[in-house]
Amino acid sequence: MIGRPNGVPVSITGLGTYIPDRVVTNDELSELVDTTDEWITERTGIKERRIAAPEQAMTDLALPAARIALDRAGVKSTELDLIIVATVTPDMMFPTTGSLLGDLLPAPDAAAYDLLAGCTGFVYALAQAHSMVSSGLAKKALVVGGDVLSKILDWTDRSTIVLFGDGAGAVVLQRVEEAGLLGFELGADGGGGQHLWLPGSGSRKFENPDGLVKMNGREVFKFATRVMVSSAEALLTEVGRTIDDVDVYVPHQANTRIIDYAARKLGIPEERVVVNVDKYGNTSSGSIPLALADAEAEGRLTPGALVLMTGMGAGLTWGSALMEWTANGRVN
Ligand code: ACO
Repeated sequence: MIGRPNGVPVSITGLGTYIPDRVVTNDELSELVDTTDEWITERTGIKERRIAAPEQAMTDLALPAARIALDRAGVKSTELDLIIVATVTPDMMFPTTGSLLGDLLPAPDAAAYDLLAGCTGFVYALAQAHSMVSSGLAKKALVVGGDVLSKILDWTDRSTIVLFGDGAGAVVLQRVEEAGLLGFELGADGGGGQHLWLPGSGSRKFENPDGLVKMNGREVFKFATRVMVSSAEALLTEVGRTIDDVDVYVPHQANTRIIDYAARKLGIPEERVVVNVDKYGNTSSGSIPLALADAEAEGRLTPGALVLMTGMGAGLTWGSALMEWTANGRVN
């Protein structure tokens, strides 16, 4: 799906994040499995990640991130009419994390649900919420992207535990005078789904549940390097922009080798690329909002800055969003 929305402009008016306190270094992981700081750093660029406490589930990460985003947007939770939580690690299948979050905030007037699109979930959720706000169906939407992947990893599997971390980000979407989200390119390839999967998590293998992540890293790597480039290029062409117009590139934070490859292929200079995978690992749906927040904290998201976000992940899925940053100018 590719599109350049032509309705009322919609933008992010508030951004918040939450990461668990516990830092887990590569050296700590090398005490659990046969790996080294050197291997992990060279292959992934990751130095450490945050891991949730045993009692923390997705709503515990989503709630503080959502509160910060609402506060920064100047929106009360009771004004929300839509909550979408993009995650593959909900507290449970139902009630959804969206519903639980709506209760905790509280947001009694909001429609609330979860969206499953692997690490691309945040970009998919942004596109959905954008459409609902732009059309007038919703006025004030909260989109949360986050995961507690540590709960579903096989802690004896060195090929996966070194890659992932826990974290969440939230944004408020509202109508604005101009600019904001300019377009989306979203896609899915279920044929490649077998390369990153959680086999016993649904109705297919319910008799033999196996709720731990399995991954074919080489296949996911090949897929990632292809779609990170093709999705961004297709979207830029669709909206009539070029990579030279992009001020801030926010790629999914899976691995510095994937990010470096995509940046080089796209032809975007290093100083315009946001990288924080070294600190957080791959936080799945949390990755893009966490990187956006770092860019904001560094003063890179100035009004008018063109921001390109591209995610990819389980499904296999991918998605890009292009946005002209507007910190104010709300019309409702
Ligand atoms: N420590 C030490 N050695 C390891 C480790 C480890 N943690 N993991 C694997 N190895 C070994 C392998 O067993 C293999 O050994 P062998 O040659 O004796 O068989 C060797 O290292 C090389 O393994 P490769 O898989 O070929 O290593 P590669 O260079 O491909 O790097 C990696 C592996 C980092 C997983 C890479 O393939 C990758 O980044 N893939 C993308 C994964 C990803 O981003 N997944 C998330 C997607 S987003 C989402 O939806 C969650």
